[in-house]
Amino acid sequence: MGKLDGKVAIITGAAQGMGKAHARRFISEGAKVAITDLNVEGGQKLADELGENALFIKHDVTSLADWARVLEEAESTLGTVTVLVNNAGIIGPVTPTVELAEEDYLKVVAVNQHSQYYGMKTVIPSMQKAGGGAIVNISSTAGMVSIVGAPNLAYVGSKFASRGMTKHVAVQYGPDNIRVNSVHPGYIKTPMMAAATDAEGGGISAQVPLRRMADPDEVSSLVLFLASEDSSYISGMEHVIDGGLTAS
Ligand SMILES: NC(=O)c1ccc[n+]([C@@H]2O[C@H](COP(=O)([O-])OP(=O)(O)OC[C@H]3O[C@@H](n4cnc5c(N)ncnc54)[C@H](O)[C@@H]3O)[C@@H](O)[C@H]2O)c1
Repeated sequence: MGKLDGKVAIITGAAQGMGKAHARRFISEGAKVAITDLNVEGGQKLADELGENALFIKHDVTSLADWARVLEEAESTLGTVTVLVNNAGIIGPVTPTVELAEEDYLKVVAVNQHSQYYGMKTVIPSMQKAGGGAIVNISSTAGMVSIVGAPNLAYVGSKFASRGMTKHVAVQYGPDNIRVNSVHPGYIKTPMMAAATDAEGGGISAQVPLRRMADPDEVSSLVLFLASEDSSYISGMEHVIDGGLTAS
C-alpha cells in the first residue's frame, strides 16, 4: 500500500530538480500527479517515463489564468486535487540590494511568492469540496534566516513570505481539514545549484555541519510525509531540511 494511494497532486516546477524527485516519489507511493512547468520538453519526458498516473501540463505559475486551466486539466484527467506542492522557484541575480533591478525583484517575487498565493487560491475550493487536503509550500533556509551570501533581497523576501502565507492559510482553512506547511531546504544538488555543486568540497559543503549537500530525494521524503496522512496533525509549521546549516 502506498502512502498516497488514491490522491491526486499538482507539483509545480517538476520538470527538473526537486520537483522531479517529488513527482517520482509521489507516483511510487500511489498518487496521480500533474507535473507542471514552463519547460515542456523536460516535463513531458518525465511524465512519459512515469506512466499513466503522470500528466504533464505546461504552466506559468505567475499567471492566475494559467492556474485555472491547470486545475481544470488535472481534474478532468486525474480527479479531484487534494495535494498541492508549490515548488517552482527561481533565484534571480546574485546582487546587493542597491544594484537589484526592479524588474528582477518583481520577477523573483512573482515566481516564488505570487505563485503560491495563486496556487492556494485556485486549489483550496477543490480541497474543501473533497473534505480536506494538504499543501506544501517550498520556501528555503533563506526564509528562516538571512544567510551570508544569500542571492538577493527578493529571494529572501519571497521565501519569508512563503512561510508567512503558509501560517495564515493554515489558520484560516484548518477548520476545513486543510493542512498547510512550509519546507525550508538548505543546499540541495539540483540544476538551480549546479554552480555550487561544482564547488562542493572546497565551498558550500564546508558550511554545513553534515559536510555535504543533499540529494533531491532526501527532500522528497519530507514532502511526502507532509503530503500524507503520516503528518495528519501537523499544520502551519516550517520544516527545515538543511544538514544542520541554520543551527550553526
Ligand atoms: N536547490 C536548492 O539548494 C534549494 C534550496 C532552498 C530552496 N530551494 C527551492 O526549491 C524549489 C525547487 O528548486 P530546485 O533547486 O529544484 O530548482 P530548479 O531550478 O532545478 O527547478 C525549478 C523548476 O521550476 C521551473 N519554473 C521556473 N519558473 C517557472 C514558472 N514561472 N512557471 C512554472 N515553472 C517554473 C523551472 O523550469 C524548473 O523546472 C525552488 O522553490 C527553490 O527556490 C532550492
